[in-house]
Amino acid sequence: MSVADLDPSRIPRHIAAVMDGNGRWAQRRGLKRTEGHAAGEEALFDTVEGALELGIDWLTVYAFSTENWRRPRDEVRYLMGFNESLLVRRRDELNERGVRIRFVGRRDWRVPKRLLRRMDESIELTRDNRTLTLTIAFNYGGRAEIVDAVRALVAEGVPADKIDERAIARRLYDPEMPDPDLVVRTSGEYRLSNFLLWEAAYSELVFTDVLWPDFRREHLFAAVRQFQERDRRFGGLNE
Ligand code: IPE
Ligand code: IPE
Ligand code: MG
Repeated sequence: MSVADLDPSRIPRHIAAVMDGNGRWAQRRGLKRTEGHAAGEEALFDTVEGALELGIDWLTVYAFSTENWRRPRDEVRYLMGFNESLLVRRRDELNERGVRIRFVGRRDWRVPKRLLRRMDESIELTRDNRTLTLTIAFNYGGRAEIVDAVRALVAEGVPADKIDERAIARRLYDPEMPDPDLVVRTSGEYRLSNFLLWEAAYSELVFTDVLWPDFRREHLFAAVRQFQERDRRFGGLNE
């Protein structure tokens, strides 16, 4: 499976991925769950390379949900440190590849200050890149995002009759981000788990049994091929 097997006229503009199955990948090998998270790094960077090959503009990945705080404290602590170190180790390389790094999610007190600083530095370092925008959903929840948008509307004193879909969309975490055309979830789970609830209203969904640490660009291309077989109607009718 390669990019050459795809229809170049129907490449999605924005692909979003739920990077799931790290824990099971590790457990199957008799390793600690955290080693599964570590192994997910290669999957992420091969997926970024695949996105660059595809020439898509936006890639969004779910790295930590607002519900993931329910995990054991050691695993949460590992994930905070791991994401911080990943940014420090890989941001120059992403920058050289023309990747613009962005984040969506709540910047609340539970996210370590050091990680927030690395996030801000990574955004700043890569802000002028345009080849690909890599958005990392961190401490992200689709419901929290909608709640935060509603709070912003109320705080701005927007009257009820001025609230429409555009008004809400403009107050999401990244108003510039187009809706994902394709959402991919790994590890054989068939759910969104609070990912991009507003934005994925008309996304094509592709599920694969591959566990995230085993995911490579070939799997991304296979998902795009499935996407190309779909008939997107947006509630209307196609010929
Ligand atoms: C996804 O892998 C990574 C995060 C949620 C941070 P999991 O840790 O959920 O792995 P499984 O689903 O337990 O196998
Ligand atoms: C979704 O995976 C969150 C991320 C991949 C970051 P989870 O493993 O947390 O989702 P559930 O609990 O299986 O729904
Ligand atoms: Mg999981």
